[in-house]
Order: sequence, then structure tokens, then C-alpha cells
Amino acid sequence: MNLPNIKEARKRTKNEVEHIYLEQEYDKNAFKNKKYFLRTYGCQMNVHDSEEIAARLESLGFESTDELEKANIIILNTCAIRENAHDKLYGFLGRCKHAKKLDDSIIIGICGCMAQEEGVVKELMKKHPYVDIVFGTHNIHELQDLILERNSKQNIRVYSCEGNVYENISYKRDSNIKAWVNIQYGCDKFCTYCIVPYTRGKQRSRKSKEIIKEVKDLVKDGYKEVTLLGQNVNAYGKDIEGELSFADLLQSVAETGIERVRFVTSHPWDFTDEMIDAIANNDNIMNYIHLPLQSGSDSILKKMGRRYTKNEYLELYNKIKGRVKDVAITTDIIVGFPNETEEDFLETLDVVNKCKFDGAFTFIYSPREGTPAATMEDSVDLKTKEDRLYKLNELINKYSLENNKKLEGKVVKVLVEGISEKDNNKVFGYTETMKLVNVTNAKEDIGNIIDVKIIEAKSFSLDGEKN
Ligand code: SAH
Ligand code: SF4
Ligand code: F3S
Repeated sequence: MNLPNIKEARKRTKNEVEHIYLEQEYDKNAFKNKKYFLRTYGCQMNVHDSEEIAARLESLGFESTDELEKANIIILNTCAIRENAHDKLYGFLGRCKHAKKLDDSIIIGICGCMAQEEGVVKELMKKHPYVDIVFGTHNIHELQDLILERNSKQNIRVYSCEGNVYENISYKRDSNIKAWVNIQYGCDKFCTYCIVPYTRGKQRSRKSKEIIKEVKDLVKDGYKEVTLLGQNVNAYGKDIEGELSFADLLQSVAETGIERVRFVTSHPWDFTDEMIDAIANNDNIMNYIHLPLQSGSDSILKKMGRRYTKNEYLELYNKIKGRVKDVAITTDIIVGFPNETEEDFLETLDVVNKCKFDGAFTFIYSPREGTPAATMEDSVDLKTKEDRLYKLNELINKYSLENNKKLEGKVVKVLVEGISEKDNNKVFGYTETMKLVNVTNAKEDIGNIIDVKIIEAKSFSLDGEKN
């Protein structure tokens, strides 16, 4: 098998971003009666990208299947954030190889953040010659062409430099109740441990008028909730002269009348008072904020390049708590950053004890090739890191349960999304503060916002009944 020249495949080199309105039509009969299997790893960006990928596959006539064995094309939308994200993919590739052995006409494709890692792609293509197509995070709009024009070799379309901002994209949305809306792509923050600025490119904001138009269309289509998506939403608009600030964008989105507005992720740096005002003053902007801490130690925060100190984080936290009624705040924390001392770790626990977060995603630091932190010496052994993670999780869960317990006996608003997986007699939905609730007596309320009385609180969910 000839290995493609990856340098050639990376054809885009220019750096200025254009906003392009896509008008593409494809032959719906090209793959009539053929099926696609799409698996998504990673964050909400990838989940939403998969909604675009699904729409593109369907524009060629493919239909969705949940059974790998029935698929004519298998697409794996990958994540590169930590080493275990890689491991998960390699585990699954074994099944794809087997499917391909049984039927050589199956197309196997890899996309997402791993596809942007040059070394990884080279090795992947060599070790997994049955992979037919690879496309990068800046090349999703070329998927149909890539499939139609592919040859018997391995076909790669990966731009090493960030792409344009495309408008008029079709999505096959997973839900008809709540929708993701991209407001920006990429990230300029370059936290020293993080691969995202390399896999997603520099920050490119969408134009506010396109975002607002998309939300208005979603309202017309009956959607109840939108989540504005970006790696660093508070930096929205800074890359376009004369564009709205994030606070102004939030205000404009709220004014569309959509019942619920959410956003992820906001970086503590640059979390403005105007943003807090917009959240506090609009009932339809949810009182829930995901505010990644990463570490409570000033020296680690500095090495991470996070641009705030422990005290600045706490000040911001307290300001938000003081101004946004009943706000819930969750966070992300990394333990075991290179040379994290016990004192550093205790500083993190101290912040957790002070903030009593509603929940947290916690991780052991994973070195990512090409990031500055990956070259830092690290004297901390894995066992110590695992112990720290365990201790941290115990504390996080304790506060999570404590916060949830405060809701017992109270009546909260829940947007009902569907039947509970665990119990078919119940439905599930989320509170304004983003807590999962399983509800009895509300089967006819899917798609509605209803009052629910909380009966029992657990660490990760609540049980309630329609009020
Ligand atoms: N843009 C968001 C986070 C995106 S990545 C922000 O800045 O807050 C999601 C989370 O993964 C991060 O908040 C961080 O906690 C974690 N993460 C990122 N890189 C990591 C690494 N190399 N090892 C372990 N966790 C990491
Ligand atoms: Fe990664 Fe930092 Fe950007 Fe978040 S802000 S995506 S952690 S570089
Ligand atoms: Fe993973 Fe890429 Fe998201 S690395 S976390 S899928 S931006």
C-alpha cells in the first residue's frame, strides 16, 4: 500500500479567515439504501460536528444505523485531549478491521481532533491500512467530495492551518428540543497542557447576525433550548472588528425569545461584569455556569498558562454567586500536572472546600505531544496522582450531594427530554441549573418545561414527581 504524502494533503497554508456561505447540492441517490455508522468521542464540539457529518452523509443518500455490522460506511469522530481518548479509538478500530475483512467494500473513515495530529495520522495509516479516508476538523465541509472522489488508496484531507468559517451548514440534530449552536471555533489561549489550539486552530468567531438567525430559526422550529458553543466563549467576537462582545451576544440571543439559553465553556479570564449582568437580568439565560479551575495552586496555574490566580478565581466565583440567583457552578480540575507538590494539591482542595462546586470533571494530567507541558520534567509517580484524583473525587461528590440535598422538597422547572433509560415509567430532563432529574407521572410532557417536586437527591441525579 502506498502511503499518501501527508504534507501534500495539508494544502491550506494561508492564515486569514473568510466567512463563506455554503451552497452545496449532492446526488441523494449516490448511496441509496446504504447505511452509515457514526461514533463520536470527546467534547460537545465533536458531538455537534457529528450532527454536521450525519447531515452530509444523508445528503448522499446514506441512512443511519446503530449496528456496526450493517454499515457500508463507518466514521469515527475522534478526540485527542488525553491519552485514554487515543486508547478508546484503537480498541474500536479492531471491530472495524473485522467488519472490513467480511466486506471489503465498507468505507472506514477517521476524523476529529486525532486527524489533526500529523504524527498520529502517519502511524495510524501505516498500522491500519484498512482505513480509507481521513479528514481533519477544518475539512468537514469536503466530506461528500472526499467520499465521491476517493480512490483505492488511503485518502486524506487535513488542513494544518485553521479553515474558514462556513455558514448555511445543515445539521441532523440529535434532539428536536435542544440544540447546539457554534459561536466560535478554535482557541487562542494555549494553556500549556492542552492540544485543542493545535487540533482546532486559532479562534474564529461566527458573525453575530448569523448566530442570531440560526437561533431564530430554531425557535420557529419549536426548539426550547440552545447551548452556545465555543472553547472560550467569553472571547467571542474579539477576532472580528466591530463584532458584539459575548455579553451583548448573550443579550441578543435571549431576546430571540428562546426559552432557555446556555453556553460552554467560559474561561475565568475575561469573565466580564457585563456577562454576569446579562445572565442575572434575563430569566431565559440559565443560572448555570461551567467555570474550569484546573488547579488551585498559583504556581501550577502559572505553569499551565491559565492567566488567573487562586484568589482571582475565588473573587470571580463569589461575584457570580452573589449576583446570579441560585446559580450552580461546575468545574474542571487536573491533578498531577508536572511536579505538582502535595502543597499544590492541598491548594486545589482548599478551593473545592471554599467553592463547594455543584459538580466537576476531574482528570489526571496526560502529556500531549507538541504541547509545552509535555517537555516538562515530572517527578510525581502515577500512584500519587491516582491517590490525589481519588481524594479529589470524594470531596467533589460530597459537595455535589450536599448541594443536591438542598433541593429535596423544593419545586424546580425541568425541561423534559425523553424516557429515562433506567426506568421506562419515568422521563428525564434538566433543571435550569443543569441537574439531571428523573420524573414520574410526566410521560406526556416530553418537550415541555414543567414544575417538578424533588423527592430524593443523589450525587449525580435527582428523583422527582410532576407537581
Ligand atoms: N476550553 C475549555 C476546556 C476544554 S478541554 C477550558 O479552557 O476550560 C476540557 C478539559 O479537559 C479541560 O478543562 C481540562 O480540565 C482537561 N484537559 C485538557 N487537556 C488535558 C490534559 N493534557 N490532561 C488532562 N486533562 C486535560
Ligand atoms: Fe485548551 Fe486552554 Fe483553550 Fe481550554 S482555553 S481549549 S484548556 S487551550
Ligand atoms: Fe477532544 Fe477535540 Fe473536544 S481534543 S475534547 S474533541 S476539541
